[in-house]
Amino acid sequence: MSRDIATPGLAHWTAVLAGTHGLTARLEPLDGEYDLNFRVLTSGTATHVLKVMRPGCDLGLVELQCAALAHLARTVPAVPLPRVVPALDGASVVTRDDPQGAPRLLWLITSLDGVAYGNFRPQGPALLGELGRRVGELDAGLADFAHPGLARNFKWDLSGAGWIRPYLDLIDEPRRRIVTRICDNFDARLAPALAGLPSVPIHNDINDYNILVARDAGGQPRISGLIDFGDMAAAPAVCEVAIAAAYAVLGQERPLDAIGHLVAGYHAVHPLSDDELALVWPLLLTRLAVSVVNAAMMQRERPDDAYVVISEAPAWRFLELAGEIAPEMALAQLRLACAKPALPAAPRILDWLAERRGSFAPVLDEDLSHAPMADLSIAAPVPRDPFALEADEAAALGGSVAEGEPARLGYYAEPRLIYTGAAFRNGPYGASDRRTVHLGIDIFAPAGRRVLAPLAGTVEAVADRAERFDYGGVAILRHETHAGDAFFTLYGHLNPDVVQRLTPGQGVAAGETFATLGAPHQNGGWAPHLHFQLALTTSGFGHDWPGVASPDEAGLWTAICPNPAALLNLPDQATRHKGPDFEALRAARGARFAANLKLSYNEPCLFLRGWRHYLFDAMGRPYLDAYNNVPHVGHAHPRIQAAATRQMAVLNTNTRYLHPAQTAFAEALTAKLPQRLSVCFFVNSGSEGNELALRLARAHTGGRDMVVPDHGYHGMTTGALDLSAYKFNGPGGGGAPGWVHLVEVADPYRGRYRGDRQAGAKYAAEVDTALAAIEARGGRLAGFIAETFPSVGGQIIPPPGYLAAVYEKIRAAGGVCIADEVQTGLGRLGRHYWGFEAQGAEPDIVVLGKPLGNGHPLGAVVTTAEIAASFANGMEFFSTFGGSTLACVIGREVLAIVDDEGLQENAETVGDHLLAGLRSLQERHAVIGDVRGMGLFIGVEMVRDRETLAPATEAAGYIANRLREFRILIGTEGLHDNVLKIRPPLTFGRDDAEMLLDRLDRILGEDSCRAG
Ligand SMILES: Cc1ncc(COP(=O)(O)O)c(C=O)c1O
Repeated sequence: MSRDIATPGLAHWTAVLAGTHGLTARLEPLDGEYDLNFRVLTSGTATHVLKVMRPGCDLGLVELQCAALAHLARTVPAVPLPRVVPALDGASVVTRDDPQGAPRLLWLITSLDGVAYGNFRPQGPALLGELGRRVGELDAGLADFAHPGLARNFKWDLSGAGWIRPYLDLIDEPRRRIVTRICDNFDARLAPALAGLPSVPIHNDINDYNILVARDAGGQPRISGLIDFGDMAAAPAVCEVAIAAAYAVLGQERPLDAIGHLVAGYHAVHPLSDDELALVWPLLLTRLAVSVVNAAMMQRERPDDAYVVISEAPAWRFLELAGEIAPEMALAQLRLACAKPALPAAPRILDWLAERRGSFAPVLDEDLSHAPMADLSIAAPVPRDPFALEADEAAALGGSVAEGEPARLGYYAEPRLIYTGAAFRNGPYGASDRRTVHLGIDIFAPAGRRVLAPLAGTVEAVADRAERFDYGGVAILRHETHAGDAFFTLYGHLNPDVVQRLTPGQGVAAGETFATLGAPHQNGGWAPHLHFQLALTTSGFGHDWPGVASPDEAGLWTAICPNPAALLNLPDQATRHKGPDFEALRAARGARFAANLKLSYNEPCLFLRGWRHYLFDAMGRPYLDAYNNVPHVGHAHPRIQAAATRQMAVLNTNTRYLHPAQTAFAEALTAKLPQRLSVCFFVNSGSEGNELALRLARAHTGGRDMVVPDHGYHGMTTGALDLSAYKFNGPGGGGAPGWVHLVEVADPYRGRYRGDRQAGAKYAAEVDTALAAIEARGGRLAGFIAETFPSVGGQIIPPPGYLAAVYEKIRAAGGVCIADEVQTGLGRLGRHYWGFEAQGAEPDIVVLGKPLGNGHPLGAVVTTAEIAASFANGMEFFSTFGGSTLACVIGREVLAIVDDEGLQENAETVGDHLLAGLRSLQERHAVIGDVRGMGLFIGVEMVRDRETLAPATEAAGYIANRLREFRILIGTEGLHDNVLKIRPPLTFGRDDAEMLLDRLDRILGEDSCRAG
């Protein structure tokens, strides 16, 4: 069935358009609620949109739009808007009969590039900011536009939103309560406030399907169009912002941030007054209330139309969630986004306090000006486990301060990992957000110490919050500046008898003792100290003040709860935590290191702490480490810490002396290997290991030539580099030396024998060619070296039988077989402790590195007694640091931990779960060409086309960078850099796999991945 038949009138309107505008074009119907809209294609490209208005449509309404667009084309030509194309007779709007003979108004506008914003993902900060700016420019451009059609009285005029009240009972409880509250607030506060604002021409319907997004030349998404002026009206400008914001927040994980970007963009080009800003959040809620009430009305009319319910679901989800957001905080956030103080009174209050610094009564009856500071930051090893503060640690925090010793202070705005309780976590995963940023100053002093009011106030709230790691006794005082601006001070970790001492409303004089410091059993379990916090809020927060903020909300919370140092007669600078300066570090690194010392990610990471498979940045944001295989048993493993600390305290020397640690490690390692591999050499790195393995092979065979799979990596020293096609055939490389003979990497997905059941044998046969080449050049074979499973080559799992067949050929030709197990060894593969086991092959030399020392520089080469004997030709083997006492103790401990903690089994079960999850993502996302792996050695290959396997390199890079924004670390690898490399510490759990899968799924649905 042709579209012409499916859409009655297509041929008719095609002919009409030719007559009215002289355009020979093909029409395609577009969505439209009441009117007919057609995409107009001339020579195959969309050039225009033909709008045929509903029968009986008011001419004035169309003229209004035409006039507005013509006006905007003059006033703000840079804003991407459609232009009206006049008919041949010069008129913007013409009337023609439809096929039924009814007269219809018809007009033509230019078409704009792009997809609907509503279908574009991600709707990120830059795009939201640009949207705000564009809408601001649009409104600025309309400022002097006048038209009689602007005075409209219709349901989408937000300043008349009170019309919804009679329909609220169409909505069931508990939802009705939500919209009733919004409606009450509208009538009582918003309607009068709006009445006091000037009405100006606005677009009035910046919804996410009236916004277009297209990519610029650099590939960045940009706002490419604002369309559909059919709801234009005169209203206060803030209605425009609130309507745009009402759509922009839907589906956003951090809605206040999202509207912050939008509103800031708008404000930058079309400034909003304080009064207008104060209306944005409540008007946004009002707009959503109108929307859901309207949907309820439609549903009453069309009860069978499921779409109405579905389309309102995001608005309801948001309205239900918005109840938890204090309007005062929403406003504060918008004000900060617009570079205004969080509260209009904030600068006055802070000045008032600063002027009085030095004259406040001492809160703990002690001069604090020389008090030492405690370091509780991310860089400090507190707590031992950043996910579980222990009671003994809490009770010793800040060091205990004895009577007579000076108090010790804890920094304001210091990010800390000591807040490990569920109340501080936000999300189900280990790497979910947590609150870390301390919003007060701590004063550590003995329990029982008197607490004095620094200035006069009244008791606002008092409580005993007895839960473990809460405040214990807590009091909040309300104060006023001389100008009458209110602010609050909080005193936490008091003796709970403060509840008896104080009653709300009671006055407290400056210098009056109103409480004492609690002991750990009274103060929530902490070392005795006062948590002293200031809050600039008009409402107060009862006694439920957050004492710690999430890093991403720290800007907001530190504006509401600024540094209280002035009230302690202390300088702000000395009491405010200063973390590492990111930009300064970056610059210093650039100055001190060569340019080829690379940083990962577009936006580099700065980590200060690690734990298991998590890393923490300087603000304490947790990152899920799905990338680093060096911390094999987890970052900062306590057993490694303990073993290393103990050994460093007694002896760390070299292999020229006897020491039990050296033999213990060698025995533990060889116990994991085939019996023939019985002689160990300890070195400092994988490179040094491979270098040595090459020497062993040459010493044993008398040959020099090596056979190596293509695209491998064996290290950065001269010999290892010569074996690494990944490097010598990569940027800056000089190609293969004559003694290195490459064979095709046995890649079952991208390689020559894809899908061939005999692939293992066929790839192995490549070795024959290499051996023939050696013979042809008059060389002599030393051996074969391969990463057992090629990693930089793209996390490749060779076909079964490959390695065994290669080894057979090499040995038959007199060579030795070297397994580079730097990436695959020590249980990572789950079912197998070594990669060669998975291949049913047994090497003559095994090289180990990365995971063996869990971060301590430690490599090993293990070989047969015969090869070792050939190497022992009189020249001493000695590596100064290799096999040091410390290294051996650590290596031994790593091997023990893998066994004791069942990490190989964990790699198997979690790896299987993750692989299954990735395969189900592959079913839904065409950009995933291949999912492969074993245990926690996993590759996900991205392709633009599953037939041609055209690599989706950009998508892979995009995903890695986006995952970093979601705080998950992975890498990209492969010949085309299109393989996601997932290779976490072996402690990685099922939950972590779930988090990775969830975020990956979201990212794969984003525009950059869909495009391939
Ligand atoms: C397979 C393989 N071999 C050897 C090395 C070199 O190890 P190192 O960096 O410790 O010298 C690496 C490093 O990435 C590797 O992946």
